[in-house]
Amino acid sequence: MTVVEDIKQRIDLVDVVSQTVKLKRTGKNYIGFCPFHSNTRTPAFVVFPDSQTWRCFGQCNEGGDLFGYVMKRDNLDFQETLKQLADKAGVTLKPQTQADRKNEEKQQTLVEVMDASAEFFRKQMLETESGKKALDYLHKRGLTDETIKIWGLGFAPDSWSQLLDHLLAKGYTRELILQAGMLSQGDDGRVYDRFRDRLMFPIRSMYGKIAGFGGRVLAPEGVPKYLNSPATDLFDKGRLLYGLDQARTGMRAEAQAVIVEGYMDVIGLHQAGYTNAVSPMGTALTESQFQLIKKMTSNIILALDPDAAGQKATLRGLETARKAMDMDERLGFDSHGLLKIERFLKADIRVTTLPEGKDPDEIVLEDPAAWQEIIVGAKPVVNHVMDSLAEGQDLADPKVKRMIAEQVLPLIEDVGSTVEREAYRQRLAALLRLDTRSLHLNTAVVSHDRRKQNRAHAEGAGEILKQPVALTAKNRALEEFTMKYLVVEPESLYLINRALARFGLNELTIDDFQEGDMKHLFTLVKQSLSQDEYEASDFVEMNLVDDFELPELLAIEKESLSDMQSKLFKDRTRSILRLRHNNVEDRLREIHYLQNDTEEKTYSQDEANVLYLDLIETRKKIDQALMSPDSGGTGKVRNIPGVYHLGGRSHGSN
Ligand code: UTP
Ligand code: MN
Repeated sequence: MTVVEDIKQRIDLVDVVSQTVKLKRTGKNYIGFCPFHSNTRTPAFVVFPDSQTWRCFGQCNEGGDLFGYVMKRDNLDFQETLKQLADKAGVTLKPQTQADRKNEEKQQTLVEVMDASAEFFRKQMLETESGKKALDYLHKRGLTDETIKIWGLGFAPDSWSQLLDHLLAKGYTRELILQAGMLSQGDDGRVYDRFRDRLMFPIRSMYGKIAGFGGRVLAPEGVPKYLNSPATDLFDKGRLLYGLDQARTGMRAEAQAVIVEGYMDVIGLHQAGYTNAVSPMGTALTESQFQLIKKMTSNIILALDPDAAGQKATLRGLETARKAMDMDERLGFDSHGLLKIERFLKADIRVTTLPEGKDPDEIVLEDPAAWQEIIVGAKPVVNHVMDSLAEGQDLADPKVKRMIAEQVLPLIEDVGSTVEREAYRQRLAALLRLDTRSLHLNTAVVSHDRRKQNRAHAEGAGEILKQPVALTAKNRALEEFTMKYLVVEPESLYLINRALARFGLNELTIDDFQEGDMKHLFTLVKQSLSQDEYEASDFVEMNLVDDFELPELLAIEKESLSDMQSKLFKDRTRSILRLRHNNVEDRLREIHYLQNDTEEKTYSQDEANVLYLDLIETRKKIDQALMSPDSGGTGKVRNIPGVYHLGGRSHGSN
């Protein structure tokens, strides 16, 4: 346990926050006014005791742990905060102990043994007759002398003791050389060189220290093809990535990491200028490995073998990546329109499809530009998983549909952008020929750890905010219908607003839309009208999220639009009116619920009455507008459903 963890276990964040913020317990969590921004109206600062984290859902939209909180509150840097909290927790930040220092010295000597071994292997390759075949082999595979030097490649001679003798002569003990993993030990206790007649790849830590070796046979039929160092104090396969020391800078610079299968692939890619590639060492990807990458970037591309085993490894790798990468939290709506805290992955994980039978090193050797194309064509994780699960399956079988939905939905839930999330849902719905509405986690039967977490959070938030917002299902279609013309022709917003004004109604605002992606689009439309650098419609198009995948929404020909101008305009106005009508109904239902079905009253009876009357007045205007021939109405009186008693029991149809 680190000192930081130790401190966190001893100090309760709720206590610390309570010192200066008045917190109220709601369910499992605590809520209060955010100390970091001035607002005394809505308590938007939540402390989650389970995870010992906090978050302001208001203006700050920021969160963190105990350390982050104290740093921000007291305006301290991390070091200062550590001191202060250690003091408070009664944890002594002691200087290194004798044992610590001894351990460090030993590690240092192990590193020296590794360096000396690498040096030996390199000399063997460059200066001996038998080493020449290794060098020739590397040249034949397209590696330059420069590359061979950078990666410290070498050759282990076909001998039982040359390395051992060499290291002993340099003064290292047999024991130490064994501990470094450079020797094997027979049943009789005798030791001998572990690597014989092999091409040697030093495997370095992310800071460039040699931790172990991978040794490749030169004979085509030799087994094992690669022999790696055994686990040692330095060499922990699950916590190292081959090439990370070289790839660190490239990953940062390109804001992207590529994970390939093997040593030669990493080297080949770097030589071709793709300096963001790393590989595991023949084992499944681990969370620790993703933690390492995360220090540089959270955009990760998996470029593993396309064969069946590789496909499985890719799926496993994706699951591991999901666990390892950070999550972020924010407020959102669930499919029932209830406010919830959404947790989403702060990472972009993609998968490439490599051509069958060709490794990345061969691809770049043939044509360096081909790799760029492969990377650009990498599929977002959701699509990849969807497609690979669907492959060869009978998609008409309800069991298959369920299997796929259960595995893909949690991934969709991880996606931060509402627009993208909806697009994925549509893609999944199309693939399984299901209605998107049936594809929400709340309705699907999904057992998943993260999901459970999610639900726990969601319940907490629902309780805190006591604000059920019942979205009407049909509104989605109305919102889309309204939006698609606005997106293609943002200027039509002026016409719409004028029409609404004629009916005595307010102009269209973002609050007319409930769906996150539509809200986003509406913002874009508004922005397009307040800039004059580009045509409004071009502006919207340029600013759409990549891979937006709402083609149907946007597939509207501009020409046909002007042809049918007036008919469309009526339809459009009508859809907005119907949307508003539904929203008003929802709002009425919501207030009714708050006043009648919840313990704590959100509004006084007077306040509620004002809200009711206001809404009913608006609804009357909307209904009149809907009857008007100007909005394509018949002029006849419509049935007005849903009568709400002020503050009393509802006698309405719903
Ligand atoms: P591959 O068998 O795909 O080899 O193993 P490769 O990387 O394409 O090697 P070349 O191009 O034939 O020289 C992929 C990776 O799996 C690990 C190694 O890290 C290798 O780079 N591996 C493979 C082992 O650790 N042991 C083995 O026996 C085989
Ligand atoms: Mn290969």
